[in-house]
Amino acid sequence: MTTIIDKNINLPPGKLGLPFIGESLEWLLDPNFFQKRHAKYGNIFKTNLFLNPTVVLIGHEGNKFLFENEGIFFSDGMSLAVPTSTKKLMGSGALVMQMGKRHKENRRIIYQALQSKSLDRYIPIIESQTVNYLKKWTAQKTFKWHDELKNYSLSIATECFLSIDIVNSDIEFSKLYTTWGKGLLSVPVALPFTNFGKALKCRELLLEKIGSIISSRTIENPGNDLLGNLLLFCKERDITLSSREIQEQLLTLLFAGHDTLSSALTSFCQLISKNSKSKEKLYEEQKWIGDIDTLSIAKIKEMTYLDQVIKEVLRFAPPTNGPPRKVLKDCNYKGYVIPKDWNILYSIGQTQRDETVYRCPYEFNPDNFDQQTKKPAMSFLPFGSGSRECVGKEFAILELKILAIHLIRKYEWKVKPKQSFKKILLPAVHPRDGLIVEFWKK
Ligand code: HEM
Repeated sequence: MTTIIDKNINLPPGKLGLPFIGESLEWLLDPNFFQKRHAKYGNIFKTNLFLNPTVVLIGHEGNKFLFENEGIFFSDGMSLAVPTSTKKLMGSGALVMQMGKRHKENRRIIYQALQSKSLDRYIPIIESQTVNYLKKWTAQKTFKWHDELKNYSLSIATECFLSIDIVNSDIEFSKLYTTWGKGLLSVPVALPFTNFGKALKCRELLLEKIGSIISSRTIENPGNDLLGNLLLFCKERDITLSSREIQEQLLTLLFAGHDTLSSALTSFCQLISKNSKSKEKLYEEQKWIGDIDTLSIAKIKEMTYLDQVIKEVLRFAPPTNGPPRKVLKDCNYKGYVIPKDWNILYSIGQTQRDETVYRCPYEFNPDNFDQQTKKPAMSFLPFGSGSRECVGKEFAILELKILAIHLIRKYEWKVKPKQSFKKILLPAVHPRDGLIVEFWKK
């Protein structure tokens, strides 16, 4: 997008970088891009990312300003601000692409299937997948954990949401899904050999597969997975959703939780191996809990130190930054003009390193989340906030905790030296060499 800047208006400090690409390359190559600009310019600055002049807000006050003005100064959600490839590959039926009333109604339907009251039913699936993967890793001894955790979280999501077993019976699903995911940030040229062209083809095949699962469900037998829950919920309330819309919603749910969740799982494994005190305390807590016949949400709630650790992992190594919004009309913040048609971003990572809120924010310290420490609203937001807060938040935390419980009770691992831990930012934060580990049963 070309922008003509009026030199007389007081724009936030910062650089717009090169024509067209702006500072996109610097952002992609430097995991400390926001940190450096935050140090130089403060809590509001301008840049140009992915062809869009962009204002970045940092800190809980800026987040409050953004979320309170969604739908007023800023678009409600990211759909107006994401690249064409993402829009086309997600489709207009996907929650993240919807706005206004339609978004609100569909969000209610999806949210009820993923909130804590509905989660107990997923625990046996998550546990049985966890046990299988742990056996596999014990046999493998050495592996790239991030790759494995991507398969692990996708296996869990496909089974919980659609009752598909991608490990044993539908291996093709995972390949189609990976190719589709590669197209999301690609140049939107639909030729058979481009990433976008291949992704469009895979999208149709995936939607067909999901469509045939939907057609196999009946009112009497809607299924005991997330799809079944959605069908039943809509039937009981006389809500009509087209099959295409349900297909697109499910495809997005699989996507939205996949890279983010595998990023957080990888960070847990990496951070716990480095922080032996936290690992010991986690183990002590599990010893105190004792043998568990059937894991439940209520039982997991008793594990308060585990809760602190998971929150600290998400604070210290948030999987993603806040996605962009479009500025709908000129507005002012802290004396600066935020111009119409620019993008605006909230920075999760830098907000969660605010030293006025967190003691030693660049150190991993689960005590940041002990009972006594109160924090201002919107100073901890790994799942975003406002009308777009992550609908999969409870599900993600549950999966993180279940893997952590199994690992801490029975397994050991050692991160291999001589590998790169440089943070790669897309599709979600992960170490460059994928966290190569040695793994064994205690
Ligand atoms: C650790 C794991 C996860 C992280 C860090 C994460 C992070 C986020 C963030 C930051 C947003 C806010 C986007 C915005 O401001 O526009 C979001 C939205 C969303 N997330 Fe997650 N997420 C995770 C897991 C999941 C899972 C497991 C699912 C699905 C089961 C999921 C589904 C969604 C959906 C559908 C939205 C869009 C909500 C809307 O537009 O109303 N996420 N997520």
